[in-house]
Amino acid sequence: MASRYSEVYGAWKTDPEGFWSEAAEAIDWFERPERAFEAEGGIYGHWFPDGVTNSCYNCLDRHVEAGRGDQIAFIYDSPVTSSIERISYGALLDDVKALAAVYRELGVDKGDRIIIYMPMIPQAAVAMLAAARIGAVHSVVFGGFAANELAVRIDDCQAKLIVSASCGIEPGRTVAYKPLLDAALTIAEHKPAHCLVYQREMLRADMTPVRDIDYASALAAAKDAGDEAGCTPVASTDPLYVLYTSGTTGQPKGVVRDNGGHMVALKWSMQNFFGVQPGEVFWAASDIGWVVGHSFIVYGPLLNGNTSVLFEGKPVGTPDPGTYWRIIAQHGVAVMFTAPTALRAIRKEDPDASLVANYDLQQFRALFLAGERADPDTIRWAERALGVPIIDHWWQTETGWPVAGNPLGLGLLPVKYGSPAVPLPGYDVQILDDAGHPVEAGTLGNVVVKLPLPPGCLPTLWNADRRFRAAYLEEFPGYYKTADAGYLDDDGYVFIMARTDDIINVAGHRLSTGAMEEVCASHPDVAECAVIGIADDLKGQIPAGFLVINSNVSRETSEIEQEVISLVRDRIGPVAAFRTAMCVKRLPKTRSGKILRATIQKIADRQPWKMPATIDDPAILDEIAAVLHAKGIGV
Ligand code: COA
Ligand code: AMP
Repeated sequence: MASRYSEVYGAWKTDPEGFWSEAAEAIDWFERPERAFEAEGGIYGHWFPDGVTNSCYNCLDRHVEAGRGDQIAFIYDSPVTSSIERISYGALLDDVKALAAVYRELGVDKGDRIIIYMPMIPQAAVAMLAAARIGAVHSVVFGGFAANELAVRIDDCQAKLIVSASCGIEPGRTVAYKPLLDAALTIAEHKPAHCLVYQREMLRADMTPVRDIDYASALAAAKDAGDEAGCTPVASTDPLYVLYTSGTTGQPKGVVRDNGGHMVALKWSMQNFFGVQPGEVFWAASDIGWVVGHSFIVYGPLLNGNTSVLFEGKPVGTPDPGTYWRIIAQHGVAVMFTAPTALRAIRKEDPDASLVANYDLQQFRALFLAGERADPDTIRWAERALGVPIIDHWWQTETGWPVAGNPLGLGLLPVKYGSPAVPLPGYDVQILDDAGHPVEAGTLGNVVVKLPLPPGCLPTLWNADRRFRAAYLEEFPGYYKTADAGYLDDDGYVFIMARTDDIINVAGHRLSTGAMEEVCASHPDVAECAVIGIADDLKGQIPAGFLVINSNVSRETSEIEQEVISLVRDRIGPVAAFRTAMCVKRLPKTRSGKILRATIQKIADRQPWKMPATIDDPAILDEIAAVLHAKGIGV
């Protein structure tokens, strides 16, 4: 099939408002928007300013009203608990209505924030949808974050309620969530009145009287009493959720998502980008704590009337590297989404992909990859193993849906390995030099998107309009700064090469080295430090810390290194995968005192590097190289 991409992208460019107005027809509105875009509204304009709608209604009620209540909404597949559960749209709606009534009973109103700190269980999705139902704003916090990170989010969004669970299951260990929640509530200055806690059998939590309420009992009581909440009409521009992501300081950025534009964009992308039709099975193997989980485990598939797989497990070890293929075959998955790191993990354990042969993958049409750069070697391996298109696509927590990719739904374009293909309608992607001038095709520069951003992208940061402007809009006036570096080729294909800030990508997880430096520097024996991301075959990048110890300290440096490693795990969480800390005599700096992190990284990654002209003392780089080599890094 010839791709319709050029025609559709051209139609958007010619008449963006007409394009999105037409896409908005696929959403049910209580009050249909008269206008697609209001340039004077919001920070850079906003979408569907006079629309009134409800995201939960569009995800659930309308499918049930259309007679599709028996269709399966979620297949919860949990190899870590040996269970599989199928939940129909009708049953999901019943739970969501009742939980929304529980929220109301606990005093949660439209616009109030609810923090959701839960593992990959269906109750987490119910908690999100019930918030959307009453116009409350949810903020999901990934389970791999430590208590301190949870506390920062509780304080920032001033949560009225927290929904959590007693535990999560990681291969080989049970993660007790409740003690982390209790610790977070001790640290946080803001104290929500209640926590709804889902008790899992594997590890039941101690409950604090009055404050903690048993999730299952409260839900059952609401159902017995026939309590259910209807859908609260919300403005299209009202916030649906806040999702915190790493920023350039320890303070995470609260990315805001609205209701109307978000639904329009996701619904459009499910069909035109991912190429899935209502009724088909879609699986995003991510976590609801990340944007991928929000957009493509919960909201996108439900808006589109798909069956979505909610997977509580890992690509390897639960129980073997054939799990992904087992799930695709067993549940008839048509289209899947994962991170390249997951494929690298599978390949490491099953290099010839021999386990694929055990499963019937006839219905499987395509595998989408995002979260980090998809290296051509991994793509080729997966193509050989699976015999379906492997489609790299690029986006960010901020955008909420793909910026660039090869649109399966519109017909695939030729593949260029190493490129997530072309910008999607809504995104005018350009490359600027540091002074803000456009560069030639093939030249590396700052990847920016011409304003306005399309529907679905962040309108601002939670309670931080000024930070939003400063972080994204001020450096290149008229453009949104992605903080990615890359280039466009002569055919308009995008190549994303690196971040321009301190963010590193560890196993598809976005982390700030600046935030890790803040933690390292808080150790009493550390005088100064630098954290960089170094290349890793499995995780893409892993963090490494360089510590300069106070001159009056005479302890073993290995002891201090271990303490700093523990400190990062305790403050940020295991997800940071911070396992390498090295004490060094001095850090290499420019004469003006800037630490030469990029040069250290090149040495560690065995990349060619030049002695920076402004370096203060070149001998320090030899010292750093010696320390790295002693650890077997950069050799
Ligand atoms: N709750 C608590 N702890 C968690 C957690 C969660 N939800 N998720 C991860 N962790 C912990 C892990 O147990 C691990 O702890 P450890 O240091 O005690 O071993 C640590 O955080 C790092 O986890 P992870 O990054 O998952 O590394 P891993 O070595 O356990 O597994 C992969 C490596 C590649 C298999 C794994 O990262 C993976 O499946 N990645 C898929 C990528 C993905 O889903 N990306 C999301 C964006 S699309
Ligand atoms: P997150 O906000 O966690 O989704 O991370 C977004 C960042 O991950 C982007 O800014 C990129 O740096 C990186 N990223 C995501 N997808 C890709 C991709 N397909 N290719 C290259 N980098 C990617």
